[in-house]
Amino acid sequence: MVNSSGNSTGIQIRNLFKIFGRSGLDYVDKVQHGMSKTELLEKHGHVLGLKDINIDMPAGSIQVIMGLSGSGKSTLIRHINRLIDPTSGQVLVEGTDVVKFNPLDLREFRRHKTAMVFQKFGLLPHRTVLENTVYGLEVQGLPRAKQVDAAMKWLDRVGLTGFENRYPNQLSGGMQQRVGLARALANDAPILLMDEAFSALDPLIRADMQSVLLDLQKEIRKTIVFITHDLDEALRLGDGIAILRDGEIVQQGNSQDIVLRPADEYIASFVKEVNRGRVVRVASAMAPLRDGDVGSTVSILGEATLEAAAYVFRQNDVDKLTVVDDANLPIGTISLREVMNAMLTTERAIH
Ligand SMILES: Nc1ncnc2c1ncn2[C@@H]1O[C@H](COP(=O)(O)OP(=O)(O)OP(=O)(O)O)[C@@H](O)[C@H]1O
Ligand SMILES: [Mg+2]
Repeated sequence: MVNSSGNSTGIQIRNLFKIFGRSGLDYVDKVQHGMSKTELLEKHGHVLGLKDINIDMPAGSIQVIMGLSGSGKSTLIRHINRLIDPTSGQVLVEGTDVVKFNPLDLREFRRHKTAMVFQKFGLLPHRTVLENTVYGLEVQGLPRAKQVDAAMKWLDRVGLTGFENRYPNQLSGGMQQRVGLARALANDAPILLMDEAFSALDPLIRADMQSVLLDLQKEIRKTIVFITHDLDEALRLGDGIAILRDGEIVQQGNSQDIVLRPADEYIASFVKEVNRGRVVRVASAMAPLRDGDVGSTVSILGEATLEAAAYVFRQNDVDKLTVVDDANLPIGTISLREVMNAMLTTERAIH
């Protein structure tokens, strides 16, 4: 295997282009120099899938890829386990370019480094919950006892103990997706690829699954690539969020970057309705500490959300909170008015 950069971890996508059609490579330069998706299709009969994608996904973080239908989300995630070959560019996983893998490397890589969770669950209907969950381990050739141990452990972690012998059609959608998640986790792969994994679920069940994933992630610390077209889901789950439009990244950042500084009208229109209290952090709305500040006996982390600050105000009869960093050192103060202003300010000025 080619290891081009030694000890990198996580996933780095570099200058990735995907142009569907007979001679995609001939159009990379033209697309790079501004040929639009429409012109490429109408004049040259090629489809622009992805244009010059660059993303760093640190190991152990959740990277969300967001965008409307047809923006290139599935095309992008399928490059990571090379279900799709790029027209040009690199997909580095732990520093190794997946694009250069030979068939044997690729098979090993798919079996041991990646696991997928699908939108339509992808369970085998004639297998029980347990037999579905051991599937990947069976393919890996693990001894049966180890397969069952791992499957039972993850079924328990997703709340399905007691359902091992049911069949998929005896379970609700939410429960089927828990099986999908347990099956992926049982593989013990460092990378989890989730393409619209929660999009088929009812809103309450969906929120539930998001909580399950966030809770598990504290323990499993996998590199998760999560695709969604839902902004609230993106903001809740993503350590990093990349927004795609017509195969191009129009903005990258964390949830707060996107809500506070939408890169263009398109993103501004997405974030307009977002509950900022759940996204914006206290540190970005506080007043910095000045000499002689009296502060407050009640403190809050700079990383806490404005909503969390509002709850602290409700429970304590104080004018201000002292904002502290991870080491509990004061970095500023915040008043109830500052919390309220930051929660209510919207980017409507843009419109
Ligand atoms: N095999 C293919 N051949 C030609 N064009 C393709 C192919 N696969 C995808 N495309 C095109 O590439 C673009 C991106 O498609 P993709 O499936 O990645 O979008 P998506 O963001 O996942 O959409 P959705 O939300 O509907 O799943 C679309 O214009 C699509 O028509
Ligand atoms: Mg898709």
